[in-house]
Amino acid sequence: MKRSRSYALAVLALLILPQILLRGAAAPPGVAPSRIILTWTGDPARTQAVTWRTETPLASAKAQLAPFTADPGFEKKAITVDGSAEKDDLGGGQFAGHYAANFQDLNPNAKYCYRVGDGQTWSEWNIFRTASASPEAFRFLYIGDAQNSIKSMWSHSIRAAYAAVPDARFIVHAGDLVEDGYNDSLWGEWSDALGFISATIPSFPVPGNHDLHRPPGAPDPKKVFAAPLLWRRHFALPQNGPDIEEMRSQSYYLDYQGVRFIALDVNVFANTDFVTDAKKRVWDTELEWLKQTLSKNPNRWTIVVQHQPIYDVAKGREYDDMRKALAPLYEQYHVDLVLQGHDHAYARTHKVAKDQVVAPTAPGVIYAISVSGPKMYELEDAHKNLMAAMIGQQQFFQSVEVAPDHLLFKAYSIDGAVRDSFELRKGASAVASTYVNHATAAPAATAKGITK
Ligand SMILES: [Fe+2]
Repeated sequence: MKRSRSYALAVLALLILPQILLRGAAAPPGVAPSRIILTWTGDPARTQAVTWRTETPLASAKAQLAPFTADPGFEKKAITVDGSAEKDDLGGGQFAGHYAANFQDLNPNAKYCYRVGDGQTWSEWNIFRTASASPEAFRFLYIGDAQNSIKSMWSHSIRAAYAAVPDARFIVHAGDLVEDGYNDSLWGEWSDALGFISATIPSFPVPGNHDLHRPPGAPDPKKVFAAPLLWRRHFALPQNGPDIEEMRSQSYYLDYQGVRFIALDVNVFANTDFVTDAKKRVWDTELEWLKQTLSKNPNRWTIVVQHQPIYDVAKGREYDDMRKALAPLYEQYHVDLVLQGHDHAYARTHKVAKDQVVAPTAPGVIYAISVSGPKMYELEDAHKNLMAAMIGQQQFFQSVEVAPDHLLFKAYSIDGAVRDSFELRKGASAVASTYVNHATAAPAATAKGITK
């Protein structure tokens, strides 16, 4: 009896020990995956990209994937995918490892578990969901500039957004994610604020002016258009943008369930201090790409995401050249909605064409500006005649629901109050939508008393 009991204990130990070693062993310092960020490089119904980082650079990058089930035995069905590994010099003798992997041949409208690591040390299992292969209703989050006091004061903003819209399929970041795009510690704050959210809900980012900032002593920022390397390290994005090396991963498009989302880096249109030769080359090439991307578009809805606004509301700002270049294209190709940031306030136009408010059923574009971080700017009235809402001194997030026949936009201050809303309705054969305004406050009343 005694002998058989010892035998059973020995067998049990043999079974359990490898599990303890695999699951319970503490990882060596610096090799645990962090900053896990989902994005797409391809079809969101069939692929899912992920990036991550380790403090200590590692030679190997692995990701594992399995269909999500409630049964923890899903691990047995996991497949392993090789990723790419890069060693980045942070300066001062410090290095970090950045990694990327892409899951392919996925089923549409399905949930998967995944984890990332080097084959020895793994992250937790996270969950993502693929898009449907055809147009269906979904919601996404739209977020303006995070930029300042990111960990201390943007964290509660983005977490409020997630709590309010937990089924958001992705998060649109309309530029100026960080104050200085070269600063690795700010990217760390950005990731800390998001926590598991960026590992569960993909990001759809476009760079703002601050994301292009280069360190003191680096090549003159007036002569470069590419964001610092950290932008590409954190986001694996579609390589379908303008054929300009500097703009890779900064302008691109993605089709999601009947909507074409165009991320447009508008720094070349908005910044007046870029050098002339390079500016003309980037300007012309990007504009031609935009025309192609807008004209060859099989989706019923089109949404552009850009940082600097076409119709600004912050004091001392005006982007005439950009407006003259882009607004006619948006009108010609029936862009429904333009999501923007940069002005550190909330504002949203009625339906607009040729710089005028048009009838609810006429062709036209709606432009929104928002801010999610704590930095606030004073409002001005230059374009107040176009605005359905102008609200300062509040941190915001937005939920946008898109279905084949409607688009429902809701702007929330981060205390959860709906501060603005509108709807667009569109039939199967309609070119122009019908605009229904739900704004609750007139711009004149809300613009008063705003201070920096
Ligand atoms: Fe900005």
